[in-house]
Amino acid sequence: MKRTVKDLVGLKGKVVLLRDDFNVPIDENGKILDSTRIINALPTIKYLSEQGAKIVILSHLDRPKGFELRKSLWPISLFLMRELNCNVDFCNKTIGDEVKEKIKHLKNGNVLLLENTRFYEGETKCDMEFAKEIASLGSIFVNDAFGVAHRENASNYGVARILPNAIGLLMEKEIIELSNSMDNPKKPFVAVLGGAKVETKVKILNKFIDKADIILIGGAMAYTFLFAMGISIGESIFYPDSVSIAKEILTKAKKNGKTLLLPVDHVCVHKTDKKEKKIIVDNMIDDMVGYDIGPKTIEIFKNEIEKAGQVFWNGPMGMYENKKFKKGTFEIAKAIAETKGYTVVGGGDSVAALNSFNLDKKIDYISTGGGATLKFLEDGTLPCIEVIQEKIK
Ligand code: 3PG
Repeated sequence: MKRTVKDLVGLKGKVVLLRDDFNVPIDENGKILDSTRIINALPTIKYLSEQGAKIVILSHLDRPKGFELRKSLWPISLFLMRELNCNVDFCNKTIGDEVKEKIKHLKNGNVLLLENTRFYEGETKCDMEFAKEIASLGSIFVNDAFGVAHRENASNYGVARILPNAIGLLMEKEIIELSNSMDNPKKPFVAVLGGAKVETKVKILNKFIDKADIILIGGAMAYTFLFAMGISIGESIFYPDSVSIAKEILTKAKKNGKTLLLPVDHVCVHKTDKKEKKIIVDNMIDDMVGYDIGPKTIEIFKNEIEKAGQVFWNGPMGMYENKKFKKGTFEIAKAIAETKGYTVVGGGDSVAALNSFNLDKKIDYISTGGGATLKFLEDGTLPCIEVIQEKIK
């Protein structure tokens, strides 16, 4: 078990470098559109503040190319100010003399948020010189940024190699919840997978063929599987390079006696129809392009979800951002929210869909990770967790 922030003693007056994942959607006026990740990061910040630590927070935001004002963490410092009972200061640099000066004046229990770590080239390259500059700012490193723990960046991986370290309370919760959901699933365990690309989900599909009882596949990914089975998909998007992988997965599921269900009907449009009039068909032919699962598929998937002991969901069932094609994702999200089984949802798109349907409160566990959650479920750990010291027994 990894050392957690609660195992650290004598924090009073110490400068603690805390890595959070504040990579949240922010509009052009600086309005935070979804604060879930920030809210989930608050318990560790509050704990450190109560212990009297001087808290210096690091985070990335998006994938900027150098300095981009739109990707500044400044709006997040205002949000933190409202949520916390301590002072929150902001510095528009991540390293250097200005940061050091601000830290000099930081009082016990207060917070200093530093600027987007990805404004610096060294961050994503995990440049150890950049990591050393960050590490020189504090004496302890706490990593609570689960959402980016699959990336070996300077501020989450590099710094951990230099300073005494621990994981935060959010990271601890993610590890416990996600490990339990894979190690001791309640039966029948239903995995619902969607999204577009098969190749990014091969490992997790294989994992679910081992761990789950029933696998439901929707979203654009389903078309590659249908094509692999020789079923006509009209002109729907599919990934030719992934057809052989899809065939292997279908064969493995059959061999392991697992139920893998694909859509039996589709909501689609004719490619040439400028008005994009939606049609529902069992078989897509000619120039038809699929954008959502059809009503029969919804019923079949819902029936499995209702009977489930546990459900894991990642990836929308169709192009839910478009009103015309949101029904599949909505109905499946609703079924997951209403099932008596234990429900876990991971992945940016599925969580955004749940939030947009106001169903998020009805889910037992929502992971703050996207790629990190899938990688954790595949491997049982992540590089930025591995680099943290073990608990002293
Ligand atoms: C995420 O949103 O998944 C994490 O913050 C990681 O972001 P990245 O994919 O840009 O590294």
